[in-house]
Amino acid sequence: MAEQSVSHSGAWKALQSHASKMESVHLRDLFTAAQRFEDFSVELNGLLFDYSKQRIRQETIELLVALANQQQLPDQIQQLFQGAPLNCTENRPALHTVLRSHSDESVAVNGVNLVKQVQTVRKQMRRFVDRVRMGHWRGFSGRRMTDVVNIGVGGSDLGPKMVCRALRLRRREEQIRIHFISSIDGAHAADILPRLDPETTLFVVSSKTFTTADTMANAAAARKWLIEAAGDEQAVAQHFVAATAHAESAKKWGLPEENIFPFWEWVGGRYSMWSSIGLPIALYLGMDVFEEMLEGAWQADQHFSTAPLEQNIPVLMGLVGIWNSNFLGMPGHVVLPYAAHLFHFSSYLEQLEMESLGKSVTRNGERVVHDTGPIVWGGVGSNAQHAFYQLLHQGTRFAPMDFILPIHPVGAEAQQYQLTIANCLAQSRAFMVGQESEEPHRCHEGNRPSTTFLLDALTPHSLGMLVAFYEHKVFVQSVIWEINPFDQFGVELGKQIANQLHQELIHAGGEEPPYDSSTNGLLRRIRSRS
Ligand code: F6P
Repeated sequence: MAEQSVSHSGAWKALQSHASKMESVHLRDLFTAAQRFEDFSVELNGLLFDYSKQRIRQETIELLVALANQQQLPDQIQQLFQGAPLNCTENRPALHTVLRSHSDESVAVNGVNLVKQVQTVRKQMRRFVDRVRMGHWRGFSGRRMTDVVNIGVGGSDLGPKMVCRALRLRRREEQIRIHFISSIDGAHAADILPRLDPETTLFVVSSKTFTTADTMANAAAARKWLIEAAGDEQAVAQHFVAATAHAESAKKWGLPEENIFPFWEWVGGRYSMWSSIGLPIALYLGMDVFEEMLEGAWQADQHFSTAPLEQNIPVLMGLVGIWNSNFLGMPGHVVLPYAAHLFHFSSYLEQLEMESLGKSVTRNGERVVHDTGPIVWGGVGSNAQHAFYQLLHQGTRFAPMDFILPIHPVGAEAQQYQLTIANCLAQSRAFMVGQESEEPHRCHEGNRPSTTFLLDALTPHSLGMLVAFYEHKVFVQSVIWEINPFDQFGVELGKQIANQLHQELIHAGGEEPPYDSSTNGLLRRIRSRS
């Protein structure tokens, strides 16, 4: 017997009826209340979360909190932190929060204190990072390392790449340079390897499973490049390390135990940059910077697990997102950092949100009868103004937006930076207030909701906090929608078919391929022109 869906519940219906009243209310009208900013903003350790430009009233929040309580969100949050097997389809916990825990904490699963395991790997990382950065880890010709190349994809690429770019001005001139190879077509490797010196290049093979085709192909190419230069296979141990949950596979690939930085099945790929997958961050910026980021995430965790729902930033993020998508009918979500160093932030969130929330069956395997994860995209806000903002301003469809704005620039000239601040505030105001005009083409309806995250500055700490907030927001939404955010079976089918097609290409015979006419036709043409 199917359980009653959340969307048939009293709390959901109350929100639907509230939404029908809110449909005719313009944000301009809501802003006649003098205290609106104070009423709808929360501050935590230098990060201000302003959600006053959302189409909500106090009653909206009360109804959303009632929905969260009905879905037992407070209990689910405790279960998440305690290591209950919330990844029900794979029967394991999702304990990325343990990765940023303090050494005096304890989270035991099946009698094993996971905090201790995490601390052991962190120490291993620090020793290694210090050796490399101080020039004590030497390559095959006895020279110190100058360049680190991360080879990974998805969660084993996007997090480290996003953070290294976000905090790159923390690197001093003489320190390690960083590069990322992820694309299966070999193009990244072809761009990057010729610019590097094999004698001073260290590769980090980052892969939870150590089987991902993209990563293993790129790792094999890099290994070949290195061995050709060194003239000796032994050089692999001096130039390759691995971050993986499958140490045995890394050993079989030829790495000695001390070159393997483990993590665990209970860390999801898209939640893994806090684990040894963060090794490239630490090599590039130092272990202290990496740990500052962990500390920011830890503070976000404390807030998420203790603050009342009405004052809880990730809970509010999640609930407001649900309000926009399920009740006001906005199926997208745009992330707009006004900080060019957050260039990769929206790609990072695309994986975090869409791989987690792109589900259409509930935890119990029932087909959902409500919409789930929004379509997420974004880009550096000030550049996007000159690209896709037009649709957001005047299109028939638009999406709620998150603006992210550091108050103090890193490395930029303060006077020029005022332009950034002015543009960010101008856009969120323009989207909210709109503009009336005699000329239809110049009309802006306004009433387009947004949230602003105002950071004192973009630091390892504030970045850690921000990313953890988004992780927890995803969890909140999964609880309301009754889906498992920690599996990703949707990506498997494409991988299976790619394996078959790969065989088809390698062993190309004259016979007709066994697929649909489009796939067959494309294959025939590719074969005939290869
Ligand atoms: O194909 C999707 C995925 O499994 C992601 O979930 C993951 O982050 C990525 O591939 C890389 O996986 P791995 O770290 O095992 O190489």
